[in-house]
Amino acid sequence: MNEREPKPEIKKGLKNVYIDKTKSSFIDGKQGKLIYRGYNIHDLASKSTFEEIVYLLINGDLPDKEELNKIDLELKSNRQINKEILSVIQSMKNSHPMDVLRTCMSLLSASDSNPDDISIENAKRIGFRITAILPTIVATHHRLRNGQQPIQPNDQLTHAENFLYMLSGEIPDPRDAKLIDKDLILHAEHGVNASSFAARVAASTRADFYSSMTAAISTLKGPLHGGAAEGVMKITLEIGNEENASDYVAKVRQSGGRVMGFGHAVYKVEDPRARHLREGSKRLAEKLGQPQWFQILSKVEDHMQPYAERGICVNVDFWSESVYYLLGIPEDLFIPIFALARVPGYVVQVLEQQDGNMLI
Ligand code: ACO
Repeated sequence: MNEREPKPEIKKGLKNVYIDKTKSSFIDGKQGKLIYRGYNIHDLASKSTFEEIVYLLINGDLPDKEELNKIDLELKSNRQINKEILSVIQSMKNSHPMDVLRTCMSLLSASDSNPDDISIENAKRIGFRITAILPTIVATHHRLRNGQQPIQPNDQLTHAENFLYMLSGEIPDPRDAKLIDKDLILHAEHGVNASSFAARVAASTRADFYSSMTAAISTLKGPLHGGAAEGVMKITLEIGNEENASDYVAKVRQSGGRVMGFGHAVYKVEDPRARHLREGSKRLAEKLGQPQWFQILSKVEDHMQPYAERGICVNVDFWSESVYYLLGIPEDLFIPIFALARVPGYVVQVLEQQDGNMLI
């Protein structure tokens, strides 16, 4: 560098750097707003299904009845894994589920007849395929590592119902499946975060779609990103009962620690996704005869209230983690569920990168 040239401004972590416009989502961290393609997350979470959101994000608007039937059939017809993928999952039986997901994501290109075509139509086709097949990979690995036979996908069930069915082998209570459906909707897209950015970097080199998705899944694994979703139930178990919640919060604050499930890099008011699973968590805890989990979490929320003024508010993980826990889903599947949900978001970020692409 020439000594007379001004020093370049280093923006570590690309903080406050904008790389592109996006039509897929709009986030207002000060107002606590999240919009997918013009639709408020509150409306989508209370009135839509994950299948509709997949269509909305990838195709740009909500489907009509016929379009919804078509996407539903397309997703159902892509749920099966082949024997090569099954054998890789078997060979990785003892690995972390995210390692299995990352490896299988890469391997999926081998069973695709047209993996290198980066046209919009082909990228959408692959996007639907990946959305449909990832739950089967996660559930198959989970069954095999527990010494159980994998469960074949059931075409009579919705995306969320089928995922729970493939994990447990039992047709789920529709109200429980609806909570997972909501959770998938809430996690489906969130602008250019670390994993979406990784997908965009790969796409910017004109790498194939599977490469972009593998980069995204690899990046999501880290504890500073998707991995953050593994902490809330730990603290709930540590607190043990609702009377201890106040002391717990005070102790963490005095030591300068973080109460898991609070604070967000973007939202400085309540994360708009957080409230949608609160009631479901309460119902599940009561149904299981374990109301203490909901009571502890509610008390933690109350005792954290004074910090809301400083922008430390409840985030989406707080209630979603309790739902996973109460549904009997083990902690190491929390990040894979995040990944299953985020696929349509990755697809749309890659499509937007390809539109007027510039190498990053
Ligand atoms: N509990 C208590 N205090 C907190 C918390 C928290 N959860 N989060 C931030 N603070 C405090 C910090 O101690 C700091 O206080 P100080 O100014 O007195 O030192 C202040 O708030 C600012 O903290 P930053 O780390 O600068 O805030 P940032 O917005 O960058 O952090 C983060 C965001 C990393 C998510 C943080 O809030 C955190 O660690 N939360 C707990 C983990 C968690 O729930 N992660 C999931 C996020 S949601 C998601 O990823 C989908």
